[in-house]
Amino acid sequence: MNRRHFLASASALAILPTVTIAAQNPLRLRAEAVVQQILPAGNAATAMLGFNGSMPGPALRVARGEPVSIDVVNGLDEGTAVHWHGLRIENRMDGVPVLTQELINPGESMAYRFTPPDAGTYWYHSHYISYEQVARGMMGPLIVEDDVPPDVDQDITVVISDWMLSEDGSLSEDFANMHSVAHGGYMGNFARAFLSASSVRQGDRVRFRVINAATNRIVPLAVTGAGGMVVALDGMALVEPRPLSELVLAPAQRADLIVDISGPVEIDMLTRQGAFRLADLKIDGANTQRQPSPITALAPHGLPAPSEPTQHLTLTMMGGAMARGHGGTNIWAFNDVSDLPEQPFGSFSRGETVRMTLVNDTAFAHGIHLHGHHFFEAGEDNALGDLRDTTLVEANEKRDIICVFDNPGRWLLHCHMLSHAVGGMRTWVNVA
Ligand code: C2O
Ligand code: CU
Repeated sequence: MNRRHFLASASALAILPTVTIAAQNPLRLRAEAVVQQILPAGNAATAMLGFNGSMPGPALRVARGEPVSIDVVNGLDEGTAVHWHGLRIENRMDGVPVLTQELINPGESMAYRFTPPDAGTYWYHSHYISYEQVARGMMGPLIVEDDVPPDVDQDITVVISDWMLSEDGSLSEDFANMHSVAHGGYMGNFARAFLSASSVRQGDRVRFRVINAATNRIVPLAVTGAGGMVVALDGMALVEPRPLSELVLAPAQRADLIVDISGPVEIDMLTRQGAFRLADLKIDGANTQRQPSPITALAPHGLPAPSEPTQHLTLTMMGGAMARGHGGTNIWAFNDVSDLPEQPFGSFSRGETVRMTLVNDTAFAHGIHLHGHHFFEAGEDNALGDLRDTTLVEANEKRDIICVFDNPGRWLLHCHMLSHAVGGMRTWVNVA
């Protein structure tokens, strides 16, 4: 974040629109050019892409276990496809061109039909030339409501991203810059969060659904004016909520917080140059009704329990700047192979439990995302950790994950630093 270019405060509030989708009622989600005020008020607005006139796209709220119908209409002058990130849905609705569907061409549309099995905080984004289309704004929140919502006064969605902007508000189009692809990826010089509310009351208990929609930036967050617990990660309830202190979200990761408001809320991204304000929420009145009570866990997830792994695969991340060479044909590779291979990296029979060691043999952190499933982060001792769909593996570190592959189809496995994905860090698994 270059503080010489822009001031920190993004105090002009832009409200995220919210759309609740009722079962029998297809929502038309039109991908199109939009103009959004990204820089603080008084600066120029930015020409971007978005959905239904907004960037981020509208926060879609759906009921768990109810069929959802979304007609994605392509109002762009290039192809697109939409991925419902984190949802364990049917493979042909996963939104990945070539692997699961044809491209939606300009002027065409595609009917996405699925039934979300798990409550939680998810998001949707373009999955075609995504390093560019997502950077231009093609993303939005997807909230699957709880059967029984927790006792909170407000439920506020927070979408974070960063953009490389000029002082005239225009977005840099250097999305595929080779130097950034080989390093941490295309990143912005300005960041902010879009919220679905503009104020809270003193004493309110609030659920924040925080989504890191940035294409490449890992966001360390600090929240002031609110104290409480992290209750879910990547949509999935934590068995034991944990105290909210510093929270780090890799690209695509989400965290649900339940907090009690003690003053104006400031959401900051911590950078080497200091705190960068992403958003603030002002206090508007006081909640005198709420009685103090402990913050408890959300309803437990309904995922199958892993059994003894029947396969143990190793996925080694290779390439990029400052690393030794590899056998792939692009900047980055998994196990000496760049880009999507003909043959899957793994073939599993439905319901099989698999252990994977993700080895980061590069000089950069990677956020590895598996489509169609959640997996457990595992300790050396086999203890099951958090259930996630994207896991951050720091440079020169490794992480084991354990996954029950119970969703048939062809599923992408890739780095969610989208510059690294286009730079070769993509593979897939087959579940039959
Ligand atoms: Cu969030 Cu392959 O995507
Ligand atoms: Cu990466």
